[in-house]
Amino acid sequence: MRLILIGPPGVGKGTQARRLAEHFGIPQIATGDILRVHVRDKTDLGKQAQSYMNKGQLVPDDVILAMAEARLREPDAAGGFILDGFPRTVPQALGLGIILERLDVALDAIVAIAVKQDVILTRLAARRSCVQCGAVYNLVINPPKTMGVCDACGGAELIQREDDRPKTIRKRFDVYQEQTFPLLSYYRPTGLLREVDGDAVVDEIFYHILEALPDKPNRS
Ligand code: AP5
Repeated sequence: MRLILIGPPGVGKGTQARRLAEHFGIPQIATGDILRVHVRDKTDLGKQAQSYMNKGQLVPDDVILAMAEARLREPDAAGGFILDGFPRTVPQALGLGIILERLDVALDAIVAIAVKQDVILTRLAARRSCVQCGAVYNLVINPPKTMGVCDACGGAELIQREDDRPKTIRKRFDVYQEQTFPLLSYYRPTGLLREVDGDAVVDEIFYHILEALPDKPNRS
C-alpha cells in the first residue's frame, strides 16, 4: 500500500499514520518527524529547518524533496509506505510524481482528513512529545503513565512542541490553507483522493480510512 495523508496541523495525521503503518507492516514516513530529529541532532539540515519550523513556515521544497527521495529509497519502503505530511505544496507533489516514476511505483490513495479548527486547537493544547524518541501523547486521550515522563523510551522528558504555541499554530493553519489545501484540487482528477471526517475517536477514523482504501493495492 502506498498512501499520502493530507490534513491541517494537528488533525491526527501522525496518529493515523502510525496505526496504518502497523496494520500494513510498512513504514510511516513523516517529514516533520525526520526534520525534528535533524533539529535535535543539530545537523546542518536541522539548523536550516529550525527557523522555518519555529515560525510555522514550510521548509523549502528542494530540501524536502531531497530528504523524501533519500527516505523513499531505503529498503524498508520498497513494499509500501505511508507519507505523513508530505507532499505539502503543489511543487512537492510534482516532485513526488517524478520520484515515484524513477522508483517505478504508483500511489494507491491520497487520504485527506478534515476537522474543525476549534477541535484541533483543543487537541494541540493537550499534545506532549518526547524530546528523545518523538513519541506523541495527549493529556486527554492518551496521557503518559507518569505525568511529564515518556513511557516509550523509559524516562525522557515530555514537552509541548515549540510550534504548538497559539500564534505559531495560527500561522501553520494559514500556511496549510494557502499552500497545502490546493493539493486536494491537484489530486482530485487522479480519482485516488479519499476525504475522511477526522472529528471522531481514533479507532473510528482508522476504520473509515481502511474502508476508503482500495482492496487491491497497485503492484508496481
Ligand atoms: P509536522 O510535524 O508534519 O506538523 P503538522 O502537519 O502541522 O502536523 P502535526 O504533527 O502538528 O499534527 P498531526 O496531524 O500529525 O496530528 P497528531 O496525530 O500529532 O510538521 C512540522 C513542521 O515541519 C511544519 O510546520 C514545517 O515547518 C515542517 N515540515 C514538515 N513537513 C514538511 C513538508 N513536506 N514541506 C515543508 N515543510 C515541512 O495529533 C495531534 C494531537 O491530537 C495529539 O496529541 C493526538 O494524540 C491527538 N489526537 C489525534 N487524533 C485524535 C482524535 N481522533 N481525537 C482526539 N485527539 C486526537
